[in-house]
Amino acid sequence: MKNYIQAEEWNIIEEGFDPHLNKISESIFSLGNGRMGQRANFEETYTGDSLQGNYVAGVYYPDKTRVGWWKNGYPEYFAKVLNAAEWMGLELKLDGEVVDLNLCKVGEFKRVLNMKEGYLERTFTAELLSGKQIKVIAKRFFSIADDEIAALHYQFVALNFSGELTLTSFIDGDVKNQDSNYDEKFWDELNRIQDGNGSYLTMRTKKTAFDVITGLKTIVLNNGEKIALTAGTEIKDKYLAEAATFSITAGETVDIYKFATNLSSQNFESSALQEEAVKAVNAAAAKGFDVLLSEQAAAWATKWEEGDIIIEGDVAAQQAIRFNIFQLNQTYTGKDARLNIGPKGFTGEKYGGSTYWDTEAYCIPFYLSTAPQEVSRNLLVYRYKHLEKAIENAEKLGFSNGAALYPMVTMNGEECHNEWEITFEEIHRNGAIAFAIFNYIRYTGDSGYLKEYGLEVLIGIARFWKQRVNWSIDKKQYVMLGVTGPNEYENNINNNWYTSTLAQWCLQYAVEAAGIVKAGDVERYSEIVAKTALKEEEEFADWTAIAENIYLPYSEEHGVFLQQDGYLDKEQVLVSDLPASSRPLNQKWSWDRILRSCFIKQADVLQGMYFFEDNYDMESLRRNFDFYESRTVHESSLSPCVHSILAAKLNDGKRAYEFYLRTSRLDLDDYNNDTEDGLHITSMAGTWMSIVEGFAGMRVRDNQLAFTPFLPEEWTSFSFNIGFRGVQLKVKINKEAISIINNTKDVLDINIFNKSYDIPEGETVISYKGQLV
Ligand code: BGC
Repeated sequence: MKNYIQAEEWNIIEEGFDPHLNKISESIFSLGNGRMGQRANFEETYTGDSLQGNYVAGVYYPDKTRVGWWKNGYPEYFAKVLNAAEWMGLELKLDGEVVDLNLCKVGEFKRVLNMKEGYLERTFTAELLSGKQIKVIAKRFFSIADDEIAALHYQFVALNFSGELTLTSFIDGDVKNQDSNYDEKFWDELNRIQDGNGSYLTMRTKKTAFDVITGLKTIVLNNGEKIALTAGTEIKDKYLAEAATFSITAGETVDIYKFATNLSSQNFESSALQEEAVKAVNAAAAKGFDVLLSEQAAAWATKWEEGDIIIEGDVAAQQAIRFNIFQLNQTYTGKDARLNIGPKGFTGEKYGGSTYWDTEAYCIPFYLSTAPQEVSRNLLVYRYKHLEKAIENAEKLGFSNGAALYPMVTMNGEECHNEWEITFEEIHRNGAIAFAIFNYIRYTGDSGYLKEYGLEVLIGIARFWKQRVNWSIDKKQYVMLGVTGPNEYENNINNNWYTSTLAQWCLQYAVEAAGIVKAGDVERYSEIVAKTALKEEEEFADWTAIAENIYLPYSEEHGVFLQQDGYLDKEQVLVSDLPASSRPLNQKWSWDRILRSCFIKQADVLQGMYFFEDNYDMESLRRNFDFYESRTVHESSLSPCVHSILAAKLNDGKRAYEFYLRTSRLDLDDYNNDTEDGLHITSMAGTWMSIVEGFAGMRVRDNQLAFTPFLPEEWTSFSFNIGFRGVQLKVKINKEAISIINNTKDVLDINIFNKSYDIPEGETVISYKGQLV
């Protein structure tokens, strides 16, 4: 754990330069706008330790799978979001000496991520080996107002010398992915143009043939006077530069502006890329940096209006939750149903940048409440578009009749994960995808989604479960063998309670959803029946029979659902018995030892109780929570949030808060020593859930928004902005009361501590005793 980020409500601040922390900071200070993003690499040359990262959403390379022992059904490749061309690069030479913070004496150094307005600012002073002293103020951002644009203003002051500055502004496409399986470079240069007005480098990804143009316009002013740049100063592969050499005098300021775009053939005809890039870059330059930045601030103001959380009395917590919200909004804006949320977003290469079950299980609730409805809808449509691939994927494994198995990891619908115990066995992801459809409709009321897209997906998933179970003559029940639950610390187990419970629910929900569509639109229903070749009577009867008679292991002795058949055969020890030197287990123990132990990586039974909480009484929840949490090491970032929400439900505010702390500053304080690889974007949605579903107890039941709030002792109050079915609300919770501000004219019926209230426009305050104040 580190503790070098200064707490401030709206800003993430690093002061002083420590090269050992640089890769961590490069992750933390990352920028993005849903379409592209970047780690916080320095603009000027840096020869110290760094992970270069520029990413364009949806542009990937199918890196050929590398495994020890090939198994039928393995995917051919692992899709990787690519490290793309660097556009903000600058080389500064002072009388021939390169400015490189690795070689200078760095004086004042400060990085600030301004989350309110959405930009990164870095200031430093440095003394070069020659004794020349300089000062730099660099500001940059990826516009969310115009997601084709990124901009930089780099201001350079010669403090104590006069001399010659050679400045090179470049696009460098000769980049690699650090995690490439065969040490290959993934891009070929296609085209380069320098029209005297800007530089344009088009590159094509190998195999996938995505064309991406990086366009750049650089404007340099010396003390306000424009300096002409010469193009093509250095001829290198996949590299385009413009440069100028001029004299500077002590005290003079050089302003460098860079306006960049990254456009891909996903969104434009390849033949139009050049023209579009010229248009985008020139329009941005014509507006100028300050106007673009004010548009950015306005766009972020809207985002905060829709989804801010305010915590009073705890600055570190305030900063952390804003950081989580900020990063989620930088990663996914929901405009394009072909894009999704990689566990690392635009902040690193790990996890390949693809989609996991994290999206449905963790991220959907955040976007449902804090973004326009089409944002979460697009996340669902993403899976609808992959339905055919999910059916093919299941066929590869031997399933038939339209059974769909969604991939564990994907970019375009094809499976990328190639560890058999996860690829073939961690099939609970199918359940999360179905649950997200239910969750979306429960929140938005948009049941029309079922007939448009949802039902087809549910049919494919139900068919999968139908074929994945088998009848046990011994148990006289349906069993599900050879699975891995969310707890990846045991594999190839039988009857994982969570997976089987989800399967049961999916089978029931598919039948129910079919009924809803049929009742609402017979014609569309017939179309779906024809398209999916659904044998209604027979298949519904099968699904229902399985749901009614699926084996769900239970321990009478402990009064808990059993994580899997063999769980109690394991030596039962508690996490509190583990010496600190054994943790984290995944770094200290052999895999063999982990698999045979009873220790649990992340919420498993409890994940199911979280999804279907209304099916279980508090006593049952308490028993399961006490039993499983004491065996859980929380070595997935996705774990603490579910525990926080359940602890809150169990009225254990203290523990709810403890779990919350583990998720909220996970990256800012580098809890797991892995922030340098990139941020844990998907678990950030879990942090949001811990506050809204945990502390505020927000739920939607029977079309009604409900709250059972409590205030963590450490806070004076907290409040959050959400949208619910067209109504924009601000919910504030303090020691005595909950206040709801309805920002629309519609009266909303809200349940607070199990009592319904009409909430008209304006503020309504209800005390914890249930009285209107
Ligand atoms: C977790 C998975 C998760 C993945 C990506 C793993 O460590 O166990 O549940 O999907 O990380 O976040």
